[in-house]
Amino acid sequence: EDVAVPSRRVLITGATGLLGRAVFKEFNENNWNAVGCGYRRAQPRFEQINLLDSIAVHDIIHEFQPHVIVHCAAERRPDVVESQPDAASQLNVAASANLAKEAAGVGAFLIYISTDYVFDGTSPPYKETDVPNPLNLYGKTKLEGEKAVLENNEETAVLRIPVLYGEVERLEESAVTVMFDKVQFSNKSANMDHWQQRFPTNVKDVAAVCRQLAEKRMLDPSIKGTFHWSGNEQMTKYEMACAIADAFNLPSSHLRPITDSPVVGALRPKNAQLDCSKLEMLGIGQRTPFRAGIRESLWPFLVDKRWRQTVFH
Ligand SMILES: NC(=O)c1ccc[n+]([C@@H]2O[C@H](COP(=O)([O-])OP(=O)(O)OC[C@H]3O[C@@H](n4cnc5c(N)ncnc54)[C@H](OP(=O)(O)O)[C@@H]3O)[C@@H](O)[C@H]2O)c1
Repeated sequence: EDVAVPSRRVLITGATGLLGRAVFKEFNENNWNAVGCGYRRAQPRFEQINLLDSIAVHDIIHEFQPHVIVHCAAERRPDVVESQPDAASQLNVAASANLAKEAAGVGAFLIYISTDYVFDGTSPPYKETDVPNPLNLYGKTKLEGEKAVLENNEETAVLRIPVLYGEVERLEESAVTVMFDKVQFSNKSANMDHWQQRFPTNVKDVAAVCRQLAEKRMLDPSIKGTFHWSGNEQMTKYEMACAIADAFNLPSSHLRPITDSPVVGALRPKNAQLDCSKLEMLGIGQRTPFRAGIRESLWPFLVDKRWRQTVFH
């Protein structure tokens, strides 16, 4: 028996990554024909495409003829960008520009995922029209990527988002989930940043926003330009760690708040809160409460199996 293939086609880059996996699932489960691209982790589920290979990019876009492309692939670790600036710029800027050009060639609507790190964090909250001023090279490459996609394809949406968490393959995959072992191993005191104000955002919520934006755009071609999306719970890393402890009924007295600005690694904005009212006015958005979202993401990594039984069964 024939299985009906949905007529709306979406291509997702970075579909093996933290955000891309959620974006692929969201479209796939909502009546879109979704093709995901990965690179090192692509096999066996996704197409293996090196985004630096412009012929491979051209070929897959012309074969699949997507209506929408969600571009999640990037080098997003600020310290890696600082140590390998040329490679990061190739992926974050040059490959994004090329993708935008190819998207224009087939009339696809491109959603380029960007970051709150385009702002310096001195006068929050930031609207889409506020002037960016990235403090670190990661933010600079993402901002250059924004400019490059908009120059090469006027029909593009730039979606800026803050720090992400969600279902991870390894705790180190997200700057939020990476704290879990420090929270769990309460026999050792742990210093936690209590200076940078952050808005942890669930990848499922960003994925829903991408789909809603794509579907709105199918009906209304004026949907393009820059947009902001973010969770609305303001927390430092110390406060996130305490909330994680609370979500699993674990102690938090071993966690120590550090209120000085960090001296190691790439510079970070103090508070780059994104104003999301533009998307909200379009009726677009979804926000999972942090404690519920983090519990769902972290329970497979609980060391004390007794908690799994008492808390979840
Ligand atoms: N994570 C955050 O907290 C955060 C915050 C704000 C904004 N963002 C933005 O959100 C987007 C998604 O971030 P993420 O955390 O999901 O990233 P991620 O987990 O690090 O995933 C990166 C993705 O890029 C792919 N990739 C790397 N090099 C590639 C290449 N040469 N060709 C093709 N694909 C390549 C990787 O594929 P393989 O692994 O298969 O090689 C992977 O799917 C990025 O644009 C990032 O700037 C992230």
